[in-house]
Amino acid sequence: MVISMKGKVAIITGASRGIGEAVAYKLASLGADIAVIYAGNTAAAERVCEKCKTEYGVTARPYQCNVAEFETVKDTVEQIKKDFGTFHILVNNAGITRDKLIAMMKEDDFDAVLDTNLKGAFHMIRHCTGTFLRNKEGCIINISSVSGLIGNPGQSNYAASKAGLVGLTKSVAKELAPKGIRCNAIAPGFIKTDMTDDLADNPLLQMIPLGKMGEPEDVADAVAYLAGAKYVTGEVLRIDGGIAM
Ligand code: NAI
Repeated sequence: MVISMKGKVAIITGASRGIGEAVAYKLASLGADIAVIYAGNTAAAERVCEKCKTEYGVTARPYQCNVAEFETVKDTVEQIKKDFGTFHILVNNAGITRDKLIAMMKEDDFDAVLDTNLKGAFHMIRHCTGTFLRNKEGCIINISSVSGLIGNPGQSNYAASKAGLVGLTKSVAKELAPKGIRCNAIAPGFIKTDMTDDLADNPLLQMIPLGKMGEPEDVADAVAYLAGAKYVTGEVLRIDGGIAM
């Protein structure tokens, strides 16, 4: 399926590196203009925008924004709308881990992960939905995790946030489907990024049926698929080499 996203604007959170960066290039390569939301690394965000412009000829702009803050997200989404005129695709990719065994986990470890991974997605969806409703068109893709589907020792905070994203996805999908707005999730397994840097020798990797970690581009391809899949909503697509089947 070859899809063109010319004329579409995609907002991608956490797009200055890793999976979000790969998603930015994939959607730009299909012709979409890109709003790169990033937490702190301005140079990295500007580099991603520059590559979108020079390699794929699209418009791309960086926006520093902590997705965990309701009002900051509101201002950022308003600014993106001013700059681009409108937007059509939202990819909630920003995420963090603070892995600890449950007996050691501090309240702040739990709150920080929930605030970014789950409430961050809520904030973005909440502030983008008005525009989607007015456009009678919108596509939301939430990056969950297989941890949220099958659990993982040491990740009770992260797994709870990612399982929460599945419930958020399905409720938003049901609520907004009659308005022409789709909402899906992707549950990646082990993908090679900074987040999984320290996993190289983890015995869990031997349990992946396809025998290797995934690449950020594998997830980006799934985002492109869901962005173009007009009859798919409320789906959770595993991109995990089979580990959670
Ligand atoms: P990463 O750590 O390389 O990138 C995460 C991005 O999110 C960074 O750009 C970071 O600045 C941004 N971010 C973090 N907190 C933020 C905040 N409060 N506001 C705005 N941006 C913020 O991680 P990676 O691997 O690229 O992960 C991307 C998404 O995929 C995350 O949601 C992660 O949980 C999920 N995922 C990753 C897997 C993996 O194996 N790498 C597996 C399953 C899910």
